[in-house]
Amino acid sequence: TWDDSPVPGEVFDPRDSAFIRATRGLPVDHTPVWYMRQAGRSLPEYRRLREGVGMLESCMTPDLVVEITLQPVRRYGVDAAIFFSDIVLPLKAVGVDLDIKPGVGPVVADPVRTLEDVAAIPDLTAEHVPFVTESVRRLVGELGGTPLIGFAGAPFTVASYLVEGGPSKEHSRTKAMMFGAPDVWAALMDKIAGIAAAYLEVQVAAGASAVQLFDSWAGACTPEDYREYVMPYSARVLAAVADLGVPRIHFGVNTGSLLPLMAQAGADVVGVDWRTPLATAIPLVGDRAVQGNLDPTLVFAPTEVMTRRAAAIVEAGRAARGHVFNLGHGVISDTDPGQLEELTRFVQQLPISP
Ligand code: CP3
Repeated sequence: TWDDSPVPGEVFDPRDSAFIRATRGLPVDHTPVWYMRQAGRSLPEYRRLREGVGMLESCMTPDLVVEITLQPVRRYGVDAAIFFSDIVLPLKAVGVDLDIKPGVGPVVADPVRTLEDVAAIPDLTAEHVPFVTESVRRLVGELGGTPLIGFAGAPFTVASYLVEGGPSKEHSRTKAMMFGAPDVWAALMDKIAGIAAAYLEVQVAAGASAVQLFDSWAGACTPEDYREYVMPYSARVLAAVADLGVPRIHFGVNTGSLLPLMAQAGADVVGVDWRTPLATAIPLVGDRAVQGNLDPTLVFAPTEVMTRRAAAIVEAGRAARGHVFNLGHGVISDTDPGQLEELTRFVQQLPISP
């Protein structure tokens, strides 16, 4: 007899994986798990590989990208890999003078202030990022049935680095442009939306099975301002990849009041940060799957405390069209990998029917 339902451990096509099925609201044999920032400083094997190599340089070196992306898949047995890169990489690739400073984040040499500054940023084509195409292709070959998630920074979050010149808490210069120079703002957001869309298209063309749009700092906006100044541009990015046949995840931090709009922007899956209970989030996102949302600091609690909270999140996730388990923001750099290993195994072995 022929049974084409997926057999655990014997899934060869990422489209049959628990992760992709959950994003589509299809039945799964276990709750799929991956972690934002699963690759990176919490892994000793990552720190060894990165010794003496700059962050952006490592993102442009396929041997490193492939190895770093695979590290957490091997160690944790997560249900998806996320492409090792950064949200500012496409800007670097088109020639924006920026760097990622250790312990600081992205720093932009000449912050964007005028229409001329915006016009000076080239649009992105696949020719700017051959190392991305090569890395994705190689990864898809190595990963077999495990899906690879491609990603891009959303226009607001990327704009905040370009306008502030670096990380910021209040995003005051960014919002000063938004409110005070709406023509420059619109041009900048349009430019970044085009770059993000093209960058996601490159990753999907090379074989990525899903995409995530990171709008980490969108929570700095009120719903009214988000709707007027941010959402149209994120919606443009998500629409550009709507017909590529891969699920689109839309994530931000501090987005409790923005979730309905982030869902409307066109996502198949809405990423929920750890501050909003899933039970609150699910009715806000309509007929969409959710992703999240364990407080990343719970990994520092005793294992039984962490797993009890994880079980409650999986339970709450049953009310959604689909649920992908994740932390409610990125893995904190001094996280004990052993705890993430326990967490992954724990969530994956939970029975699926109540
Ligand atoms: O494992 C993964 O999630 C894939 C890799 C990834 C990185 N950055 C690698 C990285 C992803 C998906 C990102 C996205 C990213 N980058 C976001 C959105 C996600 C989020 O956390 O909200 C943002 C806001 C950035 C900008 C950025 N780049 C920040 C804030 C930092 C951290 C600064 C620091 O050192 O604390 C970076 C640098 C960065 N990006 C590192 C990594 C592994 C650390 C650099 C290093 O290891 O030296």
